[in-house]
Amino acid sequence: MTGGAGFIGSTYVRRHLAERPDDEIVVLDKLTYAGRRENLADAPPSQIEFAEADIADREAVARAVDGCDAVVNFAAESHVDRSIAEPDAFIQTDVFGTFVLLEAARDAGIRHLQISTDEVYGSIEEGSFTESSPIDPSSPYSASKAGGDLLVGAFQKTYGVDALIVRASNNYGPYQHPEKLIPLMVLNAMAGDRLPVYGDGMQVRNWLFTEDFASAIDVVLERGEAGEVYNVGGPEELPNIEVVKRILELTGRDESLIDHVGDRLGHDRRYSLSADRTEGLGWRARVHFDEGIERTVAWYRDNRDWWEPIRSGEYREYYERQYGTKLGS
Ligand code: NAD
Ligand code: TYD
Repeated sequence: MTGGAGFIGSTYVRRHLAERPDDEIVVLDKLTYAGRRENLADAPPSQIEFAEADIADREAVARAVDGCDAVVNFAAESHVDRSIAEPDAFIQTDVFGTFVLLEAARDAGIRHLQISTDEVYGSIEEGSFTESSPIDPSSPYSASKAGGDLLVGAFQKTYGVDALIVRASNNYGPYQHPEKLIPLMVLNAMAGDRLPVYGDGMQVRNWLFTEDFASAIDVVLERGEAGEVYNVGGPEELPNIEVVKRILELTGRDESLIDHVGDRLGHDRRYSLSADRTEGLGWRARVHFDEGIERTVAWYRDNRDWWEPIRSGEYREYYERQYGTKLGS
C-alpha cells in the first residue's frame, strides 16, 4: 500500500494488521510534509516493510510490488487549499503517480484499489451522488483525483487490470494533519487562537470517521468487482459552522473566537454520497459524529507530542501564507 504514513493510510494499516495478524504490508511512502513514519509506530514491525519512495518512481514501485497480492493506493497530495496555491505536485502524484502504479499492477497481474474522493463529483445542492453520477471536479485537487480515477477505468477496460475505486466523503479522526478543518479548529480552539471559517460557513460536508472508512476499504478490497466504483459516505451531513461550534463546546471556548474570512476559490457548497452499493457488500458506518468528534478532540488533547512538531515546522510558514492576511483583515 502507498501513502501508509499519512492520516487514513496509517489508520488502515493499524486496523488491518490488528484484524489480520498473518498479513504483511509493504508500505511505500515518500514522506512528504503530510507523511510521518511515527504514524505507524503502533503497528507490529514484523508485519510491515517500509519503503521511502515516490509512487512516480517506476523502479521503486516495481520492487515494492514484487510478491504482493494487491496495491492499495492512498498516496496523494490531499489538501484543496494547497492545490489552489500550487497545483503541480497534485498532477504529478495524483495523476502520473497513479499511472505508474497501474502499470505495475498490470505487469504483476494483481488488483489495484484506488482510494478516491467524493470531491470528483463536484458540488450537489440536493440529494446524494451515486456511483453513476458524472464527475465534475472544481479544484486542482479534485481534478487530479478525477484524472487518476479515469486512468483506473481505462486500465481496467484496455488492459483488463483488476482495478476498482472507492470514493469517500470527508474523513476525520486521530492522526489527521492540522491543515484540515477539524484538527485546525481543535488545535486553534485549544490554544485560544482565531478560527478561520471560510465565507458564511454554511458549506456542508458528509463526515466519516476514519476507522469506519478503513473497514470499508477491506470490504471493497475483498468483495468489490473490477471496473466498479464504491462510494463510502459518512452517517451525518453538517455545515462547517456547526462543526466549529461543536468543537468550541468540547474545548470549553466561546464563539467569539470564530472569524469569518474570505472564501476559498471554487468552493464546493455541499457534498453528499449514497453508500448503498458499499452497504450492499456488508459494510456499515458505526461511529456517529457526536461520538467521533469527542474521540477526536480527546485524542488531540492527549497527544500534544504528535502535533507540536508539525505545528512548529513547515506548517507555520504554510499557515502564515494561507491565513496571515485573511485573519489580519
Ligand atoms: P494525507 O495527506 O494525510 O497522506 C498522504 C500520504 O501520501 C502521506 O503519507 C504522504 O507522504 C504520501 N505521499 C504523498 N505524495 C506521495 C508520493 N508521490 N509518493 C509516495 N507517497 C506520497 O492524506 P489522507 O487524508 O490520509 O488521504 C489519503 C487518501 O485518501 C488520498 O488519496 C486522498 O485523496 C483520499 N481521501 C481523503 C479524504 C479525507 O477526508 N482526508 C477523503 C476522501 C479521500
Ligand atoms: P477541508 O478539511 O480542507 O476538506 P475539503 O476541502 O476536502 O472538504 O475543508 C472542509 C471544509 O471546511 C471546507 O468546506 C472548507 C472549510 N474550511 C474552513 O472553513 N476553514 C479552514 O481553515 C479550512 C481548512 C477549511
